[in-house]
Amino acid sequence: ELKEEEMVKRIQAIKKEMGDRLYLPAHHYQKDEVVQFADDTGDSLQLAQLAALNKEAEAIVFCGVHFMAETADILTEDNQIVILPDMRAGCSMADMATIYQTERAWDQLIALFGDTILPLTYVNSTAAIKAFVGKYGGATVTSSNATAMVEWAFTNKERILFLPDQHLGRNTAYELGVPLEAMAIWDPITDTLEYDGKYEDVKVILWKGHCSVHEKFTLQNIADVRDKYSEMNVIVHPECSFEVVEASDYSGSTKMIIETIEQAKSGSKWAIGTEMNLVNRIIQQHPDKTIVSLNPNMCPCLTMNRIDLPHLLWALEEVYEGRQTNRIKVDSEISQYATRALERMLQRV
Ligand code: 13P
Ligand code: SF4
Repeated sequence: ELKEEEMVKRIQAIKKEMGDRLYLPAHHYQKDEVVQFADDTGDSLQLAQLAALNKEAEAIVFCGVHFMAETADILTEDNQIVILPDMRAGCSMADMATIYQTERAWDQLIALFGDTILPLTYVNSTAAIKAFVGKYGGATVTSSNATAMVEWAFTNKERILFLPDQHLGRNTAYELGVPLEAMAIWDPITDTLEYDGKYEDVKVILWKGHCSVHEKFTLQNIADVRDKYSEMNVIVHPECSFEVVEASDYSGSTKMIIETIEQAKSGSKWAIGTEMNLVNRIIQQHPDKTIVSLNPNMCPCLTMNRIDLPHLLWALEEVYEGRQTNRIKVDSEISQYATRALERMLQRV
């Protein structure tokens, strides 16, 4: 059992020795003990863009979750290997849509609506689903560009299928003027479309998935912070439910939340509805502002948190010794179609 200090030293030594041959990106939701070693931190869009630009690194040790490592593999060259320090770092939302469920849904939706639907998938999805979307002319989206991408989708087709996060899909479409009555829900467990009205009125089909971290923020949490503090600003991620986003003062991607707090006046008060590690980091970086988590129980993303100091050190030692342990390698045909979906997004943002 190594002491923390010893692990830190060994990671620093490997990073120094490998130089530009190693690239270590980290998502904003990663633990501080990991973020301290990151070459870059970012939200999922920034990390995808940075991976696409990096041509030097032989090994990319990705501190984030599985779908992000897959995206990095798709966007980098064949000779660049992507490593995920802990294979258990998945995403419960991405797991809510399998390619089999998606193909089944598509067949039924095409039977109902004909060739009028463009599929869009949040990057929080498997490479196979990105490939499916790419094949049918659609694109990926992230929380930073969902509005622009949904707008683009409607210039192509009359309807969209939005996978796998119903909340991001609903919040984004509503902001663009699509009424709730024009949104249907696809339930992948029962293979049915939940919709009360006439099918011809449907504009958006929302996949019934959600983020188990962001769903924990509630209207009660908002009422509580507004009760406790006067002039409290509430800012939430658009993976939160529609009611929570509507009752908040601001909503936006991880990057937008960080920038809003950075630009906020000294002395202002903020309740943030997003992942715990990021909220704690923002609190530490802004001692001049009153900042709390919107949910007092904080809300960690358990899978993001799988990546810790011991896993990072172990993954780096494996890479350093020339092994490809925990390599994330997307099948080449899937990768080719998924690239189309990702490029349609990256060209527009
Ligand atoms: P962004 O990084 O796009 O804000 O997404 C948040 C998230 O939940 C990542 O898994
Ligand atoms: Fe998935 Fe939510 Fe965790 Fe992001 S915060 S990785 S969407 S479970």
